[in-house]
Amino acid sequence: MKVVHTIEELRDQLRGQLRVAFVPTMGNLHPAHLALMKLARQHGDPVVASIFVNRLQFGPNEDFDQYPRTLASDIEKLERERDVYVLFAPNEREMYPEPQNFQVQPPSDLGGILEGEFRPGFFGGVSTVVLKLFSCVQPSVAVFGKKDYQQLMVVRNMCRQFQLPVQILAHETVRDADGLALSSRNVFLQPSERAEAPQLYSTLQSVATGVLAGGSDVASLEGQAAQTLASRGWDVDYVSLRRQRDLLAPSPQEILSGEPLVVLAAAKLGATRLIDNLEVCKK
Ligand code: PAJ
Repeated sequence: MKVVHTIEELRDQLRGQLRVAFVPTMGNLHPAHLALMKLARQHGDPVVASIFVNRLQFGPNEDFDQYPRTLASDIEKLERERDVYVLFAPNEREMYPEPQNFQVQPPSDLGGILEGEFRPGFFGGVSTVVLKLFSCVQPSVAVFGKKDYQQLMVVRNMCRQFQLPVQILAHETVRDADGLALSSRNVFLQPSERAEAPQLYSTLQSVATGVLAGGSDVASLEGQAAQTLASRGWDVDYVSLRRQRDLLAPSPQEILSGEPLVVLAAAKLGATRLIDNLEVCKK
C-alpha cells in the first residue's frame, strides 16, 4: 500500500486509472471501515482510502481535538487487509491551505433536520470535504456506511444535484455481537457505559417492532423509546421515525400502507454521543 500525504502524490499514483473506488474516513479504523474497503474492492480498482479528521464538520463545542488519531495502527490494519492500494492521509494545510470560503450548503429540509438540528453546520462540513476529496481522488465509485444514514443521503443527493460522476454505494451497519454499531467514538465509553450502549439499538428494535405490529401513533412510539433511554440515564437528542426516501415524517396512512421507514436515534451516554438507525420495512 502506498501512503501519500499530498494531492500531487495522490494524482501521480492514480494517473490513468479509470475505475477508482474510494472510501473516505476520519481514521481510528475499526472492522466496519475495513468492511467498506472490501466492498469497494468488489466495485472498482484500485481502492483508495482517505484518513482526514475534518475540522469543518465539528462544531465549536465538539470533540475535534479529542477525536482519536491513530495513523500508525490504521496503516497496519490496512496493510494486513490488503484491500487498499493508496491511502491518502493529508494534513490540514494540504486540505485547507486557505480558509475554505466556498462551501457546499445542503438544503435545510435534509441537512437541517435530525443530526443537522443538533449539529448545526455538520452536513455543510461533510459535504464540502467530500466534494473536495472527490475532486482529489476522482473516483468512479465511493462507499459510505448506513450507520450514518443521513450523511449517506446528503452525499447521494449532493452527487445527484451536482451531477458528479460518482456512484455511491451503501454498506450495511456493522455491529458488535451485542448490537452496538461500531464507531470510532466507542473508545470513549467507560466500561459501564459500554455495557449499556447496546440499549440504543434495542430501543430502535422496539420501535420497529411497534410499527410492524400495526402501531401508527408516531409520537407515542418515539416518546416511549426516548423515555426508556432517558430512564436508563441517556441524554436523548432524538428518536425519530422517518420515511427512507427523504427522511421526512410519515403520515399514519403511509405507515399503515407500508411506506419504507427508518427509525433514527442520537443520544449521549456520559460524555459520548452515539447515533444509530434501523430500517423498518413491512414485507
Ligand atoms: P467516519 O466516521 O470515519 O466513517 C467513515 C465511513 O465509515 C462512513 O461512510 C461511515 O458511515 C462508515 N461507518 C462507520 N461506522 C460504521 C458502521 N458501524 N457500519 C457501517 N459503516 C460505518 O463518516 C465520516 O468518517 C466522515 O463524516 C467523512 C465521510 C469521512 C467525511 O469527513
